[in-house]
Amino acid sequence: MLDSLNALEREGLDALEGISQADQLPVWYRAYLGRKGKLTDVLRGLGALSAEQRPAAGRRANEIKSALEGAFAKRQDEVREAELEASIASGALDVTLPGRPVAPGHLHLSTRTLRRIREIFAEMGFQVYEAPEVETDENNFELLNIPPYHPARDMWDTFWIDDEVVLRTHTSPGQIRCMRESHPHPIRVILPGKCYRYEQVTPRSEHQFYQVEGLAVGHGIRITDLIGTMHEFARSMHGEQRRLRIRSSYFPFTEPSIEIDMDCILCVAKGCRVCKYTGWLEIAGAGMVHPVVLRNGGYDPEEWTGFAFGMGVERPAMLHHGIEDIRHFYNNDLRFLRQF
Ligand code: DAH
Repeated sequence: MLDSLNALEREGLDALEGISQADQLPVWYRAYLGRKGKLTDVLRGLGALSAEQRPAAGRRANEIKSALEGAFAKRQDEVREAELEASIASGALDVTLPGRPVAPGHLHLSTRTLRRIREIFAEMGFQVYEAPEVETDENNFELLNIPPYHPARDMWDTFWIDDEVVLRTHTSPGQIRCMRESHPHPIRVILPGKCYRYEQVTPRSEHQFYQVEGLAVGHGIRITDLIGTMHEFARSMHGEQRRLRIRSSYFPFTEPSIEIDMDCILCVAKGCRVCKYTGWLEIAGAGMVHPVVLRNGGYDPEEWTGFAFGMGVERPAMLHHGIEDIRHFYNNDLRFLRQF
C-alpha cells in the first residue's frame, strides 16, 4: 500500500512538472485530487487494510494529498506567470499604453461653504461642536424654552420619528448638549450641521438644509460682542466693506432677540432683484441666550450670560453664485456640481 502511495506521489508530481499550459491544470487536478481521482481511489482502498497497517497508510495518504495540493498551487502560479510573460514578449499586451484616467472629484459647494465658515470662526477662537441630527423633542423644543403647545412650535414643521424623537428642525438643540457637557466652563463654539423640516420642496425651500449655530457663554458677554462677531464674520466671508443692520425679533430661546441683515453684496444696498429691492440680505437670527435656556444648560443666569446665532448655509452660497434653485444642492446632478 505504502509503495503504491509513493508511486502515486511521484507520478503526480512528474505529470505536474510537464504541464506548460494553464488549460491543462484543471485536467491534472481532476485526475489526481478530484472526487474521482487517483488519490481518492487509494483512500477508498484503506478500508481493506488490517488495523495495524491502516494508521500509517492513512497518515501517508494525507501527507501526499497536501504535497500534491501545494505543488499544484505553485505550478499554477508559475504557468500563469509564464503565460503572461510570453504574451507581453509577443507584443499582444502593450504595457506602455497609458491607463484610463481616474476622474478627480472635488468638494461639494455646501461642504466648501461650511469649511470656509468654520475657518473664519476658528480664527475668532470658536471650536466646532457636533451634535446629532436625530434629536429628542425635549432638546429640540422644550429645553429651548418652547414648551408643548407653545405657538412658537408653528415656526418649525417637524419630521417626527415617534412622540419623543424628531429629526432636528434647527441646530439650536446642540446648544443644550454643549452647555450640559461644558459647564461650569465658558463656551465659544459653532455647531454646523444638517437640519430637516417637513416642508413643501420649492426652489426656495428644501426639506433638508444646513445651518451653522453659534454659542458663546461666559462672564460679562454682551450683545455688542454678538454684533461685533457677526460683523467680523460678514466681512471675512463676503468682503471688507460689508455693513450690518440689526432689527429686533423674537425667538423663544433668546432675550432680547435680533435679526441680522447685511448690505446686499450685489447692489451694495442700492436695491436689486436679489435683495428684493430692499438693499439688505438676512444672514442670521440671533440674540442673548435666554435665562431659562442657560439654566437648562447648567449655567446660573445670575452669573453667566451668552449670545447665540443661527444661520443658513445654502442661501448665502446661492446669492454668491447666482443659483436660483436650492434643490440643485441635493439633486446630485454633475452638470451643476462641476461648476463650483
Ligand atoms: N434656530 C433658529 C431657526 O432655525 C435660528 C436661530 C435664531 C438660532 C436665533 C439661534 C438664535 O441660536 O439665537 O430658525
